[in-house]
Amino acid sequence: MGSLSVDNGISRRIAITRLGASALGLAFMNSSQFTPEIKDEALRSQLPTLNQRSRTLLSQVLQDPNFSGRISASAVETLAKSENASVDDLMLGLLPLAQTYSRAPISNFFVGVVVRGASGNLYLGANIEIPGQCLGFAVHAEQAALSNAYMNAEQSVTSLAVVGGAPCGHCRQFMEEISPSGEILILIPNHPPAKLASILPAAFGPAALGATQGALPIRKVNLALSGGAPDALNNAALDAACMSYAPYSKSPAGVAIRTTGGRIFQGSYIENVAFNPSLSPLQTALVQLIAAGQAYSAISAVTLVEMQGSKISQRAVTETVLAALATQLRLNVVLAKA
Ligand code: THU
Ligand code: ZN
Repeated sequence: MGSLSVDNGISRRIAITRLGASALGLAFMNSSQFTPEIKDEALRSQLPTLNQRSRTLLSQVLQDPNFSGRISASAVETLAKSENASVDDLMLGLLPLAQTYSRAPISNFFVGVVVRGASGNLYLGANIEIPGQCLGFAVHAEQAALSNAYMNAEQSVTSLAVVGGAPCGHCRQFMEEISPSGEILILIPNHPPAKLASILPAAFGPAALGATQGALPIRKVNLALSGGAPDALNNAALDAACMSYAPYSKSPAGVAIRTTGGRIFQGSYIENVAFNPSLSPLQTALVQLIAAGQAYSAISAVTLVEMQGSKISQRAVTETVLAALATQLRLNVVLAKA
């Protein structure tokens, strides 16, 4: 197993930054401003190692109106065959595409991740920085892709490919919660694969606070709205709260974002035994929105559902982050009970 030491010299950093910057337009490829020809053109420059047949297939996946960073197991199989490549190599090949979803206005450092779920589906993820807000609100690319696997109810995650350096300590800690057995295989271009356990020895895992298992598979909690209208947005936020993972605070929470185009994106709260790497439900929902190529300006309404009288509240952080992205919007908070 490799040590995953990565040459993080200036030249590498600049190269990655340039690649991300040149690719940023691709993140909006589902919006009407891109014609199909331009999408093909963008994919060709982004994924030069893929053949034309694979790019055509991928472009169909990306243009699905319901696309949100998930590439189905059947599409993955077809792509791997078309490339005559292993799924691991396909994941590495897709990293420049994942990177194009990065929103990093503070660092201009664009990180891309592809995660493989037990179902065989792949999930794209990229880092998100909240403009003008504290660095602690950033979502790392690894967290983004893993939370996408979580929101798609994967039983477990088997591997994670990353471009932009080896996963940082915060991400290793986040992965430990997803897979406390340390079995996730980490793939980095031009490095030997390494299991999480080998790059996070003596891990501080969920057991330290008495949890008997990690975040996956999801164990649904039963909550009901105790106020608010039972409309589609509130119900989507309730559903996300029921799917959340909050073994430490016992304070489940979920967010639903509605867009001007009428799509709804859900986000569940995902806790971490070390607390700080936890993802708030708005962060998780933003991952879904961005993976669908949607702009923040498309956000038209946001509901947070959390439990009445719970130990901690997501309200303040959700209001702060939302205000940074959509100044005119007021957060709709709906309480739920068990
Ligand atoms: N970043 C990641 O996405 N993953 C890592 O493991 C390292 C750091 C992001 C966070 C922030 O947006 C930027 O890279 C600079 O740290
Ligand atoms: Zn990280």
